[in-house]
Amino acid sequence: MSILSGRFKSILVLSDMHYPYNHADIYAFLKALKEKYKPDLVVSLGDEVDLNAFSFHEKDPDLLSPGEELKTAIARLKPIYRLFPKMHVVESNHGSLVYRRGKANGLPRHVLKSYRDVLEAPGGWHWHKDLVVTSRGGGKIYFCHGRSADGLKLSQSIGMSCVQGHFHERFQVQYWGNKLGLFWSVIAGCLIEDNSLAFAYNKLNLKRPIIGTVVIIDGHPKLEPMVLDKNGRWIKRLV
Ligand SMILES: [Fe+2]
Repeated sequence: MSILSGRFKSILVLSDMHYPYNHADIYAFLKALKEKYKPDLVVSLGDEVDLNAFSFHEKDPDLLSPGEELKTAIARLKPIYRLFPKMHVVESNHGSLVYRRGKANGLPRHVLKSYRDVLEAPGGWHWHKDLVVTSRGGGKIYFCHGRSADGLKLSQSIGMSCVQGHFHERFQVQYWGNKLGLFWSVIAGCLIEDNSLAFAYNKLNLKRPIIGTVVIIDGHPKLEPMVLDKNGRWIKRLV
């Protein structure tokens, strides 16, 4: 677990972009959020790349090869790198696929590149297993990719507010309290393109992914849905 020093007024959280199978309007949406909230900390909850072609599941022949997928993901991430040259990223099941593939095929860690090198990310991007930060008001917040579908229990067991990604169809804030104060648990939705073949495994699920993210201002979470029009594109304004 990494613990960041300092106290943060405005934390922008983004999760599950799954490049290159991302929603087409991520950049414009995140730029609008950056301009509105002027974050002093940006956290990615993981799955910034999909790595579908690297997965252990059956591959769709109509999707990209491993090399093409990675190349396309990196090219599409470049504007995000310019928008957010500093980012703290927590490890995730899709993000770690390169390493899991290497391990399964007998490669020692020493011969593998770092995440930053694989994704050609800027020097200001830092990866953590999970992360604790302190809000300006003094409350501690725990960030992880997807440790528990029961976010309230996670928050209670770790004794602080928490934020998770991973659960694409869930976009929620739940509160709990004790004599010491008010705590909350957030699940932050995702930023994927639901129609992509990369998510065909989920087509029979009636619940659809919720496209959006969360900001935390002075220790209080605010959900920011990306409201879509009938064509599945962002309506180009925050609600
Ligand atoms: Fe994900």
